[in-house]
Amino acid sequence: MLVENFPFEYCSDSPESTRGLGVSFAGRLQRGDVVALQGPLGSGKTCFTQGLAAGLGIEEPVTSPTYTIIAEYSGTMPLYHIDAYRLRDEEDFFDLGVEEILYGTGVTVIEWSERIPGAIPHDAFFVAITIVDSTTRNILITGGPT
Ligand SMILES: Nc1ncnc2c1ncn2[C@@H]1O[C@H](COP(=O)(O)OP(=O)(O)OP(=O)(O)O)[C@@H](O)[C@H]1O
Ligand SMILES: [Mg+2]
Repeated sequence: MLVENFPFEYCSDSPESTRGLGVSFAGRLQRGDVVALQGPLGSGKTCFTQGLAAGLGIEEPVTSPTYTIIAEYSGTMPLYHIDAYRLRDEEDFFDLGVEEILYGTGVTVIEWSERIPGAIPHDAFFVAITIVDSTTRNILITGGPT
């Protein structure tokens, strides 16, 4: 699968196919890119991130950093995985002092990015996941650097 042109819309019928989309999408990421994930509980944000991490050559298991808020992995480039679920707003995010990673040399993936819209760089990719039924997800990828 080639994920090259945006907007890119995809209908996933299994966790494996959502992971596969993440793997393919990772292939077009560059240092400094930010990926803002949006979608309800259990929609597949972490599943997509697991594929993305695998695509960056990361072999460690990837889980939602719900309590630690941020996890760092090292692959072909650094991956920062942020879970904003427990943040109230942008101020909570800025208080963590991690804002500079968004403009650094790694890839940053943010689950629950809708909680901190004002902190998301304008050239971020947005990945919006909608639950269609128990095994089906609609995934729309938009944005990205121009
Ligand atoms: N097509 C699909 N794509 C992704 N996940 C799916 C799909 N069909 C079923 N699932 C199930 O949906 C769940 C997705 O879980 P995941 O942890 O990735 O969601 P999440 O959006 O990160 O949730 P949270 O908001 O709690 O972090 C898993 O239990 C997975 O098996
Ligand atoms: Mg998650």
